Amino acid sequence: MIFTQQATMKKYKSTLYMVMSFYSFCMLIRFLYYLRLEENVSVGEKNYRSLFEKGYLKLLFDLSKLRNCPGDLTHLSGPISVRLNRNPHLLRKTERENHFVRKGGYYKPPWCKPLIKVAIVIPYRNRATHLLYFLQYMHPALQRQELEYRIYIINQVGDKFNRAKLFNVGYMETLVDLNYDCYIFHDVDLILEHNHLLYGCSPENPRHLSVAIDKHDYQLLYPELFGGVTSFSSNTFKKLNGYSNSYWGWGGEDDDMYNRINKTGLKIERESTSIARYRMIPHDSDPWNEPNPRRHKLLNSSIERMHEDGLSNLQYIIISRIEKKLYTNVTVNLMAPNIRYKIDDYNETTAGLNLNQSEPLGQDSGKSNTGDQVERILLKGAA
Ligand SMILES: *[C@@H]1O[C@H](CO)[C@@H](O)[C@H](O)[C@H]1NC(C)=O
Ligand SMILES: *[C@@H]1O[C@H](CO)[C@@H](O)[C@H](O)[C@H]1NC(C)=O
Ligand SMILES: *[C@@H]1O[C@H](CO)[C@@H](O)[C@H](O)[C@H]1NC(C)=O
Ligand SMILES: *[C@@H]1O[C@H](CO)[C@@H](O)[C@H](O)[C@H]1NC(C)=O
Ligand SMILES: *[C@@H]1O[C@H](CO)[C@@H](O)[C@H](O)[C@H]1NC(C)=O
Repeated sequence: MIFTQQATMKKYKSTLYMVMSFYSFCMLIRFLYYLRLEENVSVGEKNYRSLFEKGYLKLLFDLSKLRNCPGDLTHLSGPISVRLNRNPHLLRKTERENHFVRKGGYYKPPWCKPLIKVAIVIPYRNRATHLLYFLQYMHPALQRQELEYRIYIINQVGDKFNRAKLFNVGYMETLVDLNYDCYIFHDVDLILEHNHLLYGCSPENPRHLSVAIDKHDYQLLYPELFGGVTSFSSNTFKKLNGYSNSYWGWGGEDDDMYNRINKTGLKIERESTSIARYRMIPHDSDPWNEPNPRRHKLLNSSIERMHEDGLSNLQYIIISRIEKKLYTNVTVNLMAPNIRYKIDDYNETTAGLNLNQSEPLGQDSGKSNTGDQVERILLKGAA
């Protein structure tokens, strides 16, 4: 009797032992899985993050004792391998990979105290594939830098493309969310290739981030170049009156900004070409964005116009504002000159457009609306 009981006990114990070993083995595999090296993520960082994901560390943190960030970037591995010959990840996959990012493309590192808030403003029209690459590579890069940031897509409907005016709109539209200290104006087709290039601002001077682009053999094309990716502290951007609103179509707006900066006595700061490196996603030139034939003439008078042309005279109509998981989509009508608007939008008193955000023009103003009920006016010299 006792003997059989002991035997059952023994059997039970060995089964238990086997179960325990199997469980330990699974946990070990799981642990190793956490530690697995992903591209550009150091073991320590990855491990730290996964622990945090589980919420284990939350209890241990006294928020007042968090270190400041962004910290020293040089502990990150440098180069980022950007693979443009592969298809970009689907949006869902990128969303899953960035589950710390909150609605609207907002992120705040939980394990440190960010000293600056950064708005990433992207002028956009019809570049869905580029946007996928951008989100796939840039969200992780920005999180590695421990920035508090948010990504804004400023999506233009209709009209000729006006990159600079979209920057100004982006600036205005970020003001409703947070008091950002730093603005990065970013073409959607440029992907950062090095972790050590801080996405921050210099307090006084504008920074040019996209110094070395693969398409241009990683050389700065000319010393005054200020296109691609640029950054301004909020105060500096206000001081410069933003970008000019007058450049419709391709070209000139960045050189106009260079003139403003030069006139204000500021100096453009650039990092070395060893870290300020980008890949450009290859593409054909866009319709509705032909080189602007007036750009040389406009540039000639850029200094005279700088205080009247920019944030100070900015007019636009918000068509929608949608908070997606990985970005905020602000769709705007920039009200190009020679485009017809509804009579309701015209204000006799100010001889300008009412910016009624609650009832936007819900259509592409580049096409004509043939509805009989809509009276129209032609606005001369708008924008
Ligand atoms: C402005 O441009 C002129 C001519 O290119 C140059 O001599 C001058 O140093 C520039 N000023 C600043 C502040 O960069
Ligand atoms: C620029 O302005 C100067 C005088 O202000 C004029 O002589 C010159 O022709 C202008 N250049 C262009 C391209 O309009
Ligand atoms: C942004 O929103 C508009 C609708 O207002 C939509 O047509 C457009 O496709 C959206 N763009 C992106 C990139 O989500
Ligand atoms: C026109 O603009 C003025 C000044 O902004 C404003 O006071 C007035 O209400 C506007 N008129 C209409 C009809 O919206
Ligand atoms: C803005 O649109 C709303 C809704 O259509 C309307 O009631 C209001 O009068 C408009 N305001 C102005 C200033 O046009």
